[in-house]
Amino acid sequence: MTHPLTLIASAATAALLAGCGAVAVQMAPAKVASQERSPAAQKADELFWSTLHEGRYEGIPLALRATTGAYLQDPGDDVTAAHVGWLHIWRLAESARMAEPDPAVTDDAVLARRYFQEAVALHPGEARYLGFLAATQLAEGAIHRDEKLTRQGYYNLKAGIDAFPEFNLFTAGYVMSNQPADSERFREGLAWQWQNLDVCVGAKVDRLDPDFKGYMGLATTEGARRVCWNGWIAPHNFEGFFLNMGDMLVKSGDWQTARKVYANAKHSPTFAQWKYAPVLEARIEQAQANVAAFARPPLPGQAGARMMFASTYACMACHQQ
Ligand code: HEC
Repeated sequence: MTHPLTLIASAATAALLAGCGAVAVQMAPAKVASQERSPAAQKADELFWSTLHEGRYEGIPLALRATTGAYLQDPGDDVTAAHVGWLHIWRLAESARMAEPDPAVTDDAVLARRYFQEAVALHPGEARYLGFLAATQLAEGAIHRDEKLTRQGYYNLKAGIDAFPEFNLFTAGYVMSNQPADSERFREGLAWQWQNLDVCVGAKVDRLDPDFKGYMGLATTEGARRVCWNGWIAPHNFEGFFLNMGDMLVKSGDWQTARKVYANAKHSPTFAQWKYAPVLEARIEQAQANVAAFARPPLPGQAGARMMFASTYACMACHQQ
């Protein structure tokens, strides 16, 4: 009797010979994840973290050189692949920092998506990668008006939420903060921010009086709920979360609730050290005036208030030390 694998192999060969590439493509072996991280990867990690934590946006090319170089030596390293993806998406997300707008920065969406796809393939259980893959698919889909990719991104966001709601409800809502204020996607994104609060505290947070003071004792640096609070990776995650959520409420027109949500950032024990504390104070002050400003899409190089998602601190609000 012929071994079934031999049959499959000869079927693939036959398909190739017949010019039917689809079967051969289907049967291509999956990439193998590396068991150990290379010295180059560990060295690249150091530069990656210092660049991110110090907010050195202009250092992105150097960090990309180190991380991409390490990846090429070992393309089976999911951590390095994801780091390359994060550097590209950071450059795109904070491109408002560029002295002159550069349309080519949109290529960072394509590259970020590709590297997150590698990271997810190598480590499917890491749901943070899935959330960022989804976000980059949505970015790339929007840039290229590729509705198929946009839908893939949307369903990956949902899968990411199911796998790790504490982390991906934020990711998903943040991406949707960019949608028109009266769109279904925007409303859903705002609902996800409320749900994120609920899953973080294990209770339904009062929608009219969302004061977080009573929940501050739940802060932790361990388990799934660590991502709801501040930690080494995102030292001002808590403040950044409420800055974005306040912005989304303002954009929705509800500047009164936005003020209460913004104010939650002040419960953070490190609020005073947060570089963007003055931004938050100004947001509380100008909440009503920002309703119209946030509802308009920002133009490149345009001065005035921008929502966190379109700002020069879209990542740094949470990650800068
Ligand atoms: C609201 C705050 C917030 C914003 C905004 C944010 N992040 Fe994060 N980020 C987090 C949290 C929380 C984690 C998960 C920390 C953990 O796993 O303990 C995280 C995880 C990460 C990691 C994972 C590192 C690792 O290997 O564990 C990187 C890198 C990263 N974010 C980069 C970015 C970039 C780039 C942006 C901008 C496009 C961004 N983040 C926007 C809060 C934020």
